[in-house]
Amino acid sequence: TVRDADPDRTTARQVRVPPGVTVFDAASWNGIAIDSTCGGHGTCHKCKVRIDGPSPVTRHDVRTFTREQLDDGWRLACLVNTTRDVAVDVPPLTTRPKAATVGVGRQVILRPAVQKRYVELDEPTLADQRTDLARLLDAIDDLEPVPDLHVLRRLPTVLRSADFKVTAVVVDEALVDVEPGDTTKTQHALAIDLGTTTVVATLLDVTTGTPVAVASMLNRQQPFGGDVITRISATMMDPDALGRLRTAACETLSTLATQVCAEGGVDPATVYEVALAGNATMTALALGVDPEPLGMAPFVMSTAQPPDLPASELGLSLHPRARVTVFPALGAYVGGDIVAGMLATGMDRDKRTRLFIDVGTNCEIVVSDGDRILATAAPAGPAFEGGAIRCGMRAADGAIEVVKLGETVELGVIGDVEPRGLCGSGLVDVVAELVRVGLLDASGRFVAAEVAKEVAPALADRLTQVGQERVFVLHRPTPGAPPEESVVLSQRDVRELQFAKAAISTGWSLLLEELGIEHRDVQQVLLAGSFGSYLSAASAVRIGLVPKLPVLRIVAAGNVAGEGAKMALLSTREREGARTLLKEVTYVELSDRADFNDKFVDQLSF
Ligand code: FES
Repeated sequence: TVRDADPDRTTARQVRVPPGVTVFDAASWNGIAIDSTCGGHGTCHKCKVRIDGPSPVTRHDVRTFTREQLDDGWRLACLVNTTRDVAVDVPPLTTRPKAATVGVGRQVILRPAVQKRYVELDEPTLADQRTDLARLLDAIDDLEPVPDLHVLRRLPTVLRSADFKVTAVVVDEALVDVEPGDTTKTQHALAIDLGTTTVVATLLDVTTGTPVAVASMLNRQQPFGGDVITRISATMMDPDALGRLRTAACETLSTLATQVCAEGGVDPATVYEVALAGNATMTALALGVDPEPLGMAPFVMSTAQPPDLPASELGLSLHPRARVTVFPALGAYVGGDIVAGMLATGMDRDKRTRLFIDVGTNCEIVVSDGDRILATAAPAGPAFEGGAIRCGMRAADGAIEVVKLGETVELGVIGDVEPRGLCGSGLVDVVAELVRVGLLDASGRFVAAEVAKEVAPALADRLTQVGQERVFVLHRPTPGAPPEESVVLSQRDVRELQFAKAAISTGWSLLLEELGIEHRDVQQVLLAGSFGSYLSAASAVRIGLVPKLPVLRIVAAGNVAGEGAKMALLSTREREGARTLLKEVTYVELSDRADFNDKFVDQLSF
């Protein structure tokens, strides 16, 4: 629970974050700004929060707080890990920052594309008959913007009604509005992570870099299919489907825009820019571009860099001249969401050897050795989303997300309610635990009943059958309930996970090989996306989803696509950086590699 102590902002909010992330990151992922100038690196000592209940005191805390404050729970947010349910008081920001902390500890100097200038103009006289426009442009001559017809139509009235005290709104070289009075402190932008399943919108105050409101909802394209392939197929089978998919995307975006503006108490007409980060198919569908070539070899995009477009084209009712910047894509299956993720994690600005994995139905993998950057996509299938899994479900209330096996079965369930099924992180956890206790062998088969009694006697009776198939019972709704009515993991589920993890580990193995890097040389693994960020690092290592490395090198990176979109709005330099990534990253196509199948088979075992 994050209790925002700033009366001008939202009050208590409950958020769900992966265990182990810092309070600073947890707040930042959820759009709650905490004072900082070091970006969460433990050096500025500004990120003060008050935490309910016991939490460790670091030497930095001792230097920052008095004894009484420490006893009262004050700590530096970037040095406290979330390991339990916790309530945190976040004080109001003490300064209006000129930089903002975004993504994985990235400091972004504010340099938005939209610039506002407040000017008090001399009123015209017979001796000074300059035109209204010349009068205005003379006052902002360092910007030299070009007006459009919308501005010209408004200009005479606005100037006179505001006694010639107005604010010019300039985007790049275009004068897009003239507003009465001083509106320089009112400037917003909308960052959108357009996911296949979930869409997240963050409303930003670009004058401070702070998020004003965040909202998410299921993509309204869901009825057309859960993944990109089924949505592409829908357009191939029905000529009207592309239009309907586009409408569904626009409805999703406009619902979210309305929601964040209402929650943030922001006039939509003060939102001048939108950044959209989505995979290549979601982007094509939102723009109304035929996605068919993305769905079949040789997997070609219509363009890597869609042009900017008016926000009204996406059904967004914002400022009349609001425009949308769409993230560029590297390939049909390494889209704008991953380019945004690379921006947010600074994949091109770090000398360390790093591996970035966005785990999902289509898994995107990026490796950088501080010099070269390679990217690829691996078709992991729907297992992580709960698809093709007997008791699989999305990460919603009732989903088992954590499993610990010992004398009993300990389950972590989303929403603390009766378990209903198994989500992706629970699936990885239970398989890793079954391998650890010896109930699954390295080939992924449940061991024989006699072996089970020997290696894990307390759990052996949970290994049973449904029809011809062996299953492990995770939760019975009532004591003695049959396995058919229980939450179970089946032998087929294990196989599905094996295929998914083999696709991913083959992907990163081949990229590392291409760069001549050993697994152990990877200094940091970033697990990104709504599923990857919630994976247990230890379980991911145990089943071989990520290289066998100390868990401290494995970091939950959060919704990096949304973070990248924020960066693009806060700084034109960062926006340019996203475009530069297209030249810096080499896309590696795995499907035509002769050694792919052999590697894949090697990677199947645990
Ligand atoms: Fe600077 Fe925590 S953010 S010390």
